[in-house]
Amino acid sequence: MSKWFLLNIILLGIAIWKFVTNGLFPAVPTHIMIGFLAVLFYLFNWTRHAVFSTIRDVPNRQTKIKYANLSKKVLPFHKWTGTTALLIALIHATIVIHTYGFQWQIAKFITGTLALIILAGIITTGWMRLYRPTIAKRMTHLYLGMALFWMILLHIWL
Ligand code: HEM
Ligand code: HEM
Repeated sequence: MSKWFLLNIILLGIAIWKFVTNGLFPAVPTHIMIGFLAVLFYLFNWTRHAVFSTIRDVPNRQTKIKYANLSKKVLPFHKWTGTTALLIALIHATIVIHTYGFQWQIAKFITGTLALIILAGIITTGWMRLYRPTIAKRMTHLYLGMALFWMILLHIWL
């Protein structure tokens, strides 16, 4: 079992925790609900890495086959859930900036902007590798996915 399953569950747990401990819960503001939704779409795609790592690491052939079949089933959705994550994050950012203006001094704005840039990079390399796959594009797609994990963690934690 890849350590990424655990890490993804921890990120999901922190996101849910932040959501339910929001002072206005259950009437959580729309921009926060939308931010939460963006995290869910990202995690749905990023879990692919946990599945791929598990396939590589487990010795049991049956388990490898089970995970490979699961991965194949999700593949047709991957590009659309990923692209949707970017659209949702853009809507979140638009509402946030409309509400508060853009406040450079506040960590949430810096980490949010960096997260959006990284996500845009993942989506760009994703579409690029779909049409003309190279090792460099694959590694960039993967490392940006990993970087986004830590950036989202910072963004919701701070
Ligand atoms: C991948 C992109 C992004 C994701 C997944 C995301 C996700 C989230 C989530 C889940 C929250 C709620 C956290 C909490 O309750 O403390 C949040 C809050 C916030 N986000 Fe983002 N965000 C993203 C991009 C951005 C961008 C680009 C900005 C601004 C330029 C931004 C600004 C904020 C601010 C200011 C809050 C706090 C809102 C408040 O407390 O009323 N985020 N974000
Ligand atoms: C939230 C956004 C996304 C994340 C976190 C993400 C993450 C991943 C991960 C972890 C993998 C498997 C690891 C590997 O490359 O070996 C992968 C594969 C791939 N991704 Fe993405 N991705 C995202 C969006 C996209 C988008 C929008 C496209 C657009 C077409 C895309 C295209 C691909 C392709 C073509 C593959 C290889 C196919 C396969 O799974 O065998 N990705 N992605």
